[in-house]
Amino acid sequence: MSIEQLAETARAMVAAGKGIIAIDESTGTIAKRFAAVGVENTEENRRAYREMLLTTPGLGEHISGAILFDETLRQSTKDGVPFARVMQDNGIIPGIKVDKGTHALAGFPGEVVTEGLDGLRERLKEYYGLGARFAKWRAVINIGEDIPSGTCIEANAHALARYAALCQEQGLVPMVEPEVLMDGDHDIETCYEVTEVTLRALFDALYNQNVMLEGTILKASMVVSGKDCAEQASVDEVAESTLMCLKTAVPAILPGIVFLSGGQSDADATAHLDAINRMGPNPWPLSFSYGRAMQSAALKIWAQDPANNVAKAQAMVHARARDNGLAALGRWSQ
Ligand code: 13P
Repeated sequence: MSIEQLAETARAMVAAGKGIIAIDESTGTIAKRFAAVGVENTEENRRAYREMLLTTPGLGEHISGAILFDETLRQSTKDGVPFARVMQDNGIIPGIKVDKGTHALAGFPGEVVTEGLDGLRERLKEYYGLGARFAKWRAVINIGEDIPSGTCIEANAHALARYAALCQEQGLVPMVEPEVLMDGDHDIETCYEVTEVTLRALFDALYNQNVMLEGTILKASMVVSGKDCAEQASVDEVAESTLMCLKTAVPAILPGIVFLSGGQSDADATAHLDAINRMGPNPWPLSFSYGRAMQSAALKIWAQDPANNVAKAQAMVHARARDNGLAALGRWSQ
């Protein structure tokens, strides 16, 4: 696989005014989302829900790609069309979550490391055959008393770089995601410091492992106040801090950066992205790869009556995609 092909895919993922919809919840995570709206977590319900999302009319106008979970990449519409085909037909690039989740980091209470490197080369080969052209790996950094440790940051950066190198070897664009969690009562300055050191460690590790940045996408968390912090930073403060942190730690050659929503409200996720882009021009396209902030409202509508509310739920998916697509251009207005 040539770097030009990887770079072309990466650029398409962050095409102007488009972003990614993350629908790669593991079976355990979707169980929580379904439980919150009273839907039973069966394979058929997961399939039907994701069919609703992926067959949203006009989705490709604002969405460049979707990240799927292993199960979903193997599923089809009710009429038997594989989801990967549905996506390709609508100009949406299939992506796949390839990490195996977080596990306690031995010797470091309260910290986690992401697993999933064993057998990854073979899994990537199969995913490529099933149509995936990019792959996501999420590392999680917790902020708390005396954490994160340097060891946790290094262990996660090393795993991210090993996965990224394997992706490029197999023709998939790595979407590297070092998520600094919003949980806690820390202030925005603490989030800034932790995010900066995490990104620096990540790009060092990518360099050390010969990962080509031209064919890599960063999925970043925004620099925000902890969820339980008494003083919540304003939209402009979040945008300024996030941009400053990225500019100091992320090489300009990267084709693009997309943000996760991480538990922000729909309105905040869109307003922050819009403010970030209004502060441009920036060194890279800055767009979205939202899970909850793309799906929450539509899931609620669908769950009320899965058999009859498909069109209504899809209208909401489209509205969220349009709003976030405008925010990716700095042209959203409330
Ligand atoms: P959220 O936008 O809900 O944080 O999900 C994005 C994602 O893919 C996290 O890995």
